[in-house]
Amino acid sequence: MPSISKKGFSMPESPIRKLVPYAEKAKKEGVKVIHLNIGQPDIKTPKIALDAVKNNTISVLSYSRTEGSEAYREKLARYYANHDIAVTAQDILVTTGGSEALSFTMGSIADSDDEIIIPEPFYANYNGFATAMGVTVVPVVSQIDNNFALPPIEEFEKLITPKTKAILICNPGNPTGYLYTREEIKKLAVIAKKHDLFLISDEVYREFTYDNKEHYSILQEPGMDEHAIIVDSVSKRYSMCGARIGCMVSKNKDVMKTALKFAQARLSPPTYAQIASEAALETPLSYFEDVKKEYVSRRNLLIGELEKIEGIKIGHPQGAFYCIAELPIKDTDVFAQWLLEEFRVDGETVMVAPAAGFYASEGLGKNQIRIAYVLDKERLKRAVFILKEALKSYKDQ
Ligand SMILES: Cc1ncc(COP(=O)(O)O)c(C=O)c1O
Repeated sequence: MPSISKKGFSMPESPIRKLVPYAEKAKKEGVKVIHLNIGQPDIKTPKIALDAVKNNTISVLSYSRTEGSEAYREKLARYYANHDIAVTAQDILVTTGGSEALSFTMGSIADSDDEIIIPEPFYANYNGFATAMGVTVVPVVSQIDNNFALPPIEEFEKLITPKTKAILICNPGNPTGYLYTREEIKKLAVIAKKHDLFLISDEVYREFTYDNKEHYSILQEPGMDEHAIIVDSVSKRYSMCGARIGCMVSKNKDVMKTALKFAQARLSPPTYAQIASEAALETPLSYFEDVKKEYVSRRNLLIGELEKIEGIKIGHPQGAFYCIAELPIKDTDVFAQWLLEEFRVDGETVMVAPAAGFYASEGLGKNQIRIAYVLDKERLKRAVFILKEALKSYKDQ
């Protein structure tokens, strides 16, 4: 039989999706599965975005420009200006989700076996994009005991080799919910400049910051024009995950010229979705105020309920809509599968994301799970209750 590529073999499974067959089986048997595993918000997409698609008068659904429609990129530049990020339409490449922006970024800056340093735990698909692009992820461990704050800068410096091309952060973080401070961003900027590295910041959760804390972008930091690359997306901002629109933003002309070649190979980002994304930029600020209020009250409820469970440790999120919980068990992969296959409370169970897949270091995160608080408070409370009962019944295998 013709054989599969080595790269294909080494592609990691998504820890968020790999348990789906067990969940589907449970659902077929009539079990209600509460999903704490996936960051698909239940928040309504702004009507203005949906209406823009419904009411448009396109007669030929054509390709758009490779870099995204001019009108959308102009409006995006204004959006960034409102966030104190000074860029022009030429500094923006519209992509098919933040996912494609991550692939294009890695492809544009790193050759096979080049290294990118990433604080772990990190968004699990960074492993997938890096494997597909032949890039080596070099993890630097952040700790649950200080909410996954930036590891000491000396830890980054120890890992820098001639193959290091970039440091990649997610701010605010998935899966940690950690929001980097201005001082932490400044420290990263200093080492990026000192060692001539790119600093990539995945800012897809920019708006979701809590407790009166403000987001500080790497492109707000002076002197970073040649080093900074932002990865962005409409998926979570406007609850438009299915639109598949994101972008890459950088003032570095060589980076953008190179990324454009990757983009030309896939022709263009989706046309209807750009129309929706452009309209979404008109979403009133009150939308975000309401959404933030909702996430804060969900977070408070979730953390409050989890803290009542004996033996559990939680990283307190200040942004995004995830948290990492450390459980008093050995292997959350086994536990998560057991929840779906065997454990029920009145016909219901929960699905969680085992956290080992959010680490690159072998053996780390095995006793942790990631929880996404994208459900209403009643469902969240019920989910934590089921988790608590499950921990009482579960015996490590
Ligand atoms: C941190 C982070 N970056 C990027 C993405 C990719 O998002 P999309 O491709 O939907 O824009 C996600 C999706 O969950 C994410 O959490």
